[in-house]
Amino acid sequence: MAMKHLRDEFLLDPAITFLNFGSFGACPKPIFERYQSFQRELEAEPVKFIVRTGPAYLRIARAALAAYISCLPDEVVYVTNPTYAINLIARGLGLEPGDEVLSTSLEYGAMDRTWNFYCQEKGATYVRQEIALPIVSKDDFIASFFAGCTARTKAIFISHITSATALILPVHEICVEARRRGLITIVDGAHAPAHVALNLATLPADIYTGACHKWMMAPKGSSFLYVKKELQERFDPLVISWGFDSDQPSSSRFLDYHQFNGTRDFSAFLCIPACLEFMQKHDWTTVSSACRALVQANGMRFADLLGTAPMAPLNDAWIGQMLSLPIRTEQPEVLQRELFDKHGIEVPVMRQQGNTYIRFSINAFNTIADLDTLYEALLASKSWVR
Ligand SMILES: Cc1ncc(COP(=O)(O)O)c(C=O)c1O
Repeated sequence: MAMKHLRDEFLLDPAITFLNFGSFGACPKPIFERYQSFQRELEAEPVKFIVRTGPAYLRIARAALAAYISCLPDEVVYVTNPTYAINLIARGLGLEPGDEVLSTSLEYGAMDRTWNFYCQEKGATYVRQEIALPIVSKDDFIASFFAGCTARTKAIFISHITSATALILPVHEICVEARRRGLITIVDGAHAPAHVALNLATLPADIYTGACHKWMMAPKGSSFLYVKKELQERFDPLVISWGFDSDQPSSSRFLDYHQFNGTRDFSAFLCIPACLEFMQKHDWTTVSSACRALVQANGMRFADLLGTAPMAPLNDAWIGQMLSLPIRTEQPEVLQRELFDKHGIEVPVMRQQGNTYIRFSINAFNTIADLDTLYEALLASKSWVR
C-alpha cells in the first residue's frame, strides 16, 4: 500500500486526484519551506546571498547530490532542466557532417527536437531507431536498438525511463555495449532520480542528465548534468558569462563554465539536501517499492478495461512508479480535459508515433482509491473506443 499519511506532507489540492507526478513532481511542505526560506534570505540581502552565502550553499548542495548519485562533486553541475542539459550537450558534441546519433523511437519530444536541430545544423543525422512494442525481453530490445548502429554512429542517446510509454530501459546493458563499440553514451534520466536506483559510479554513461523536480520532489527548475571528467573539456557553456575565460578560475573549468549564467534565483538547487533528508526520514526505498507494487498490481486491470496490453512485462525490470497503456481515442486532449473537468483527475493522455497512451503515476500520497476513481471515470467516459 502506498502511504496515505504522507498526503498531509504535500501541498497538493485535496480536491484533485493527482496521477501525474511524472510530468511535474510536487514539493512536500518541508522542502517548499526550505525553498522559501532561501528565497527570503536572498531578498533580505541580495548581494550577500548571490555573491557569498549562495555559492557556499551551492557547494554543499552539489556535494550532497554527487554523493547521492555516486559521482565526484566536480563531475556534476546543477542546471534548470534536462532540456537545457541536452541542448548544451548536442551543441557541444562536435558533430560533423555524416555523423549519426543513435536513439530510439520512444524519446521525449523536446529531446527529439533538440537533436534534430543540432544534427541538421552540422549535417549529421539523428537516428530514431524503431522499437517494436510490446517489448518482449532485454536481449530483444538491445538487439533492435543496435540494429540502428552504423560505422557513422558517434554517440547514443537514450532515456533511462521513457516519457509517453513510461518504460524503464536497460540503459546499463546499452551503455556497456555502446562503450565496447567506442560510442559516447548520453542518457536522459529525467525520470530516474528517486524513482529507480541511480549509481553513476557503476553505470557506464559518459553523460547523464536527471531532473530533481520530478521524483526527487525538488522545486521546479532544478536538475543536473553529469559529464565524466575526460569529456568535460569538449563542452562550451550554453550561455557565456563570467565563468568563461574567468578572471578567477576555480579548480574546475566544467563548473566555471556551466554553473553561473547570469543573475537568477538558484534557490531550487539549494533544496536538494532537504529532499534527501525528507526521503531518508520517510524511508523512501520502502515508499517507492510500495508505489511500484501498486502500479504493477493494477496494470492488468486497466489493460483489460482498455482492451489493450502492457507494453512490457509488469515487473521491476521495466515498470516503476508509472504505467502507460495504449488507449483508442481520436481526441486525447478531449479525454484528458474530460477526466479533469468532470472527475477532478490529473492524468495525461499523450500521442507518440501515431499511438495514444494514458499514463498514471503513483507517489507516496496516492492510494488504490485514486486508481479506482480513474477506473470508474474511464468506465463512464465515451471519449475512447472500447
Ligand atoms: C524522458 C524525458 N526527458 C526530458 C524531459 C524534459 O524535462 P524538462 O522539461 O524538465 O527539461 C522530460 C519531461 O517530462 C522527460 O519525460
